[in-house]
Amino acid sequence: MSKSQSLPDSVDATLQLLNSHGYFAERSLATVLYLSLRLGRPLFLEGEAGVGKTEIAKVLSATLGRKLIRLQCYEGLDVASAVYEWNSAAQMIAIRLAEAAGDSDREQLSSDIFSERYLIKRPLLQALEPDVGGAPVLLIDELDRADEAFEAYLLEILSDFQVTIPELGTFKAPQPPIVIVTSNRTREIHDALKRRCLYHWVDYPSAERELAIVKSRVPGISATLSQQVVRFVQELRDQDFYKNPGVAETIDWATALTQLDARALTAEVVGDTLGALLKYQDDIAKMQSGTMEKVLKEATSDI
Ligand SMILES: Nc1ncnc2c1ncn2[C@@H]1O[C@H](COP(=O)(O)OP(=O)(O)OP(=O)(O)O)[C@@H](O)[C@H]1O
Ligand SMILES: [Mg+2]
Repeated sequence: MSKSQSLPDSVDATLQLLNSHGYFAERSLATVLYLSLRLGRPLFLEGEAGVGKTEIAKVLSATLGRKLIRLQCYEGLDVASAVYEWNSAAQMIAIRLAEAAGDSDREQLSSDIFSERYLIKRPLLQALEPDVGGAPVLLIDELDRADEAFEAYLLEILSDFQVTIPELGTFKAPQPPIVIVTSNRTREIHDALKRRCLYHWVDYPSAERELAIVKSRVPGISATLSQQVVRFVQELRDQDFYKNPGVAETIDWATALTQLDARALTAEVVGDTLGALLKYQDDIAKMQSGTMEKVLKEATSDI
């Protein structure tokens, strides 16, 4: 990991920092990120799939030289998987060994097996630990997938940045982690949690920004092809598909096209590579029944 960097001291510096690691952010995102770093408040990012929500935490960790700790949320996520659990198998072995050795000091044994040695630290607890490189970046990804009970628990952690383990005591972060929370908005996150965070809706990028992303992520792509790809995707997003392509799909598609040595978009090459762009059969069928010609015409005119 690179050496820990100090926090950016302006919105422009934040933009530059992200740019230098290939992340092209709108100014509004850089502003809210700058404020979240300065004020030490968690940043809550919502947006469609593949618009760069998760990536921002990764880039932040790389640019600031901080450890990235990721908690991927899912239905049924509980404290044992997110915060800590006791290593009961190892505790059991320790008890058996003590019994075999004729060790009868129960008090001592109990304090031994409930020591840090037998504690399995999960991401939320890891994020509260001091780190030589500075407070880590804690990514709580796709919070909308977790249950509401877990969200309530999280609220407590994000308020105090501490966790109490009854058998062991309280762990408090010497310096609060940099927290990024993301959601795809499959359900609303409670106001109480949002209130503790700064909020930003991550939208699809402008054509200009998406072009910069493609050029940076798909080295070797021709100028004509990159422009046509971006125009095509931007046009597609206006077509009322079930699932619009995100930036991730644009990058995938551009990569696929360059692998096929395409220099410009044609009906044939678009038809062959639709699977990199659209992931639902209904959307693909819609494309094949006329939409493609229209979009292709828009994307390739005057280039
Ligand atoms: N502004 C950007 N600059 C550079 N790369 C970007 C940008 N936005 C998205 N990307 C790229 O798009 C891809 C998808 O981004 P990411 O995984 O962060 O999306 P997401 O919003 O977390 O999607 P999901 O909701 O599906 O998890 C990544 O490869 C990322 O590098
Ligand atoms: Mg993500």
